[in-house]
Amino acid sequence: MSKRKQIRPEGSIISSEQYEHHFTSYYKSHQHKLREIKARLLKAGTSYSDSIFSLFRVLKREEVWLRNSVILHSTYFNSLGNGNNKPSPQLFNMLVRDFGSWEEWVEEFRVISISSRGWAVLGFDLLEGNLINCLCDEHAEGHWMIYPIITLDVFEHAYQQDYGSDIKGYTKDFLNNVDWSFANSGLETAQEMYNVLQAKNN
Ligand SMILES: [Fe+2]
Repeated sequence: MSKRKQIRPEGSIISSEQYEHHFTSYYKSHQHKLREIKARLLKAGTSYSDSIFSLFRVLKREEVWLRNSVILHSTYFNSLGNGNNKPSPQLFNMLVRDFGSWEEWVEEFRVISISSRGWAVLGFDLLEGNLINCLCDEHAEGHWMIYPIITLDVFEHAYQQDYGSDIKGYTKDFLNNVDWSFANSGLETAQEMYNVLQAKNN
């Protein structure tokens, strides 16, 4: 997973106040809590296990929620650009191949963004080698073996300070300002992973 840019991009659609609150109170906080849960799991013990309630069960459940949150938020902050770059020919051609046209990809991602309660994700299917748009209502939900290329956080905490209830405006501005250099790099990584998996399976 690519590392986060260290500063909010100049000309970002997200104000510095909204960005820092989201980055600190959610992404960094969830990173910290994930480390805490991993430490607690080492001491939790497995002698008392129960599908209704046990400390071990609760910690393992929350581990999923936090781990996915960290991955999705990391990708989100990297996906925020300022309209200064474009998809690589490889990514553009793959979007056209898998969605019919650039416009059809944009439209599906836009509709997912305003239909989801949590996340819209453009991902690379590591089993099939194609791109897919995913809708995830919350962190502990998603498609396995999908490598996230760009993610859009549509929880209200991500945009309400800047956009109020205007999720359509937020989504439109996001799509016009994706950091495609990050997405291009992600596609290259995912393609390499797919190639390795294919070589092992054939
Ligand atoms: Fe968030």
